[in-house]
Amino acid sequence: MNTVKGRVAIVTGGGQGMGRETALLLGKEGAKVVVCDIAKSKEQPDKYCADLVAEQIRAEGGEAIACNADLSIFETGKKLVDEAVKAYGTIDIVCMVAGAQKVQPVDELDEATWNKLMAINCTTMFSLVHYAAPIMKEKGYGRIVCYASRAAFGNGKSAIYSASKGGVMGFAAELGYELTPFGIHTNCILPSAVTGLFPNSKVAYDGTPKPDPEGPDMVAPMTVYLCSEACEQSGEFFYVSGCDVGLYPRNRLPVGLIRKGNKEKWTVEELSTMVPETFDWYFATKQKTSTR
Ligand SMILES: NC(=O)c1ccc[n+]([C@@H]2O[C@H](COP(=O)([O-])OP(=O)(O)OC[C@H]3O[C@@H](n4cnc5c(N)ncnc54)[C@H](O)[C@@H]3O)[C@@H](O)[C@H]2O)c1
Repeated sequence: MNTVKGRVAIVTGGGQGMGRETALLLGKEGAKVVVCDIAKSKEQPDKYCADLVAEQIRAEGGEAIACNADLSIFETGKKLVDEAVKAYGTIDIVCMVAGAQKVQPVDELDEATWNKLMAINCTTMFSLVHYAAPIMKEKGYGRIVCYASRAAFGNGKSAIYSASKGGVMGFAAELGYELTPFGIHTNCILPSAVTGLFPNSKVAYDGTPKPDPEGPDMVAPMTVYLCSEACEQSGEFFYVSGCDVGLYPRNRLPVGLIRKGNKEKWTVEELSTMVPETFDWYFATKQKTSTR
């Protein structure tokens, strides 16, 4: 069943990679798409990627406009909402795929880079949802998709990328609590695909090599499902890569719990033996996963 038909969708990062594939699929499925991206096309350097994607959607019989806006600027959230409302009268779907990264050891990372990447990857999500939520709340319907990353658990390469993606996960979890009562469902994708951002995304969820590179088009159907009326889940985290779709457990329960006694405080010395003794089973079995 086609359940995005006639819905108005904003797609950030819609000019390339997984955002592009999502925008194209939403367009094919009958959504009216606002494609946001800042990048210029590599093949046609005088053109913006978002313009080309919007043109392609229209050429395939769909409806779309482009917004060549910079997501490192907070006001872009409002600009996108205004553009969507001006063009199509409302907003039903906010799909936030845009992302940027910088590989740099933490002691070499500078404040300007930290602030810029935090803005693109995380803060502008807040800006966009802040302005879109009242419209969705009023109509009692909305779908929000955030793109995070397994790098939120650390990847040994980029403190700012990991920190910003961790922020995305917390934000998405919170939206799941806050907005679901208003009919607005939020979910989060932790993807993997070979793209311009990650040309070497060739390892599976458990860190084992994948023989065939898997393109960004493989992630689009799951993204569009989460954008659709059919999606009843909210506040969940999905791993999506190639043919694999997985669910990350989202609960607040620790994997192990030891209580010393009623209101008795542990000593530092006790903890230095208790922690390894109690949790080593977990540290030992923890899979060495690939994280991006
Ligand atoms: N490819 C992977 O394996 C992988 C893994 C984990 C997470 N991700 C996440 O998935 C999302 C999509 O990434 P992708 O791999 O398709 O990369 P991509 O580079 O192909 O697409 C990201 C898009 O975001 C746009 N963008 C970046 N900064 C912007 C800005 N300031 N303003 C407007 N647009 C901006 C880029 O121009 C680009 O078109 C990102 O959030 C990324 O962090 C990707």
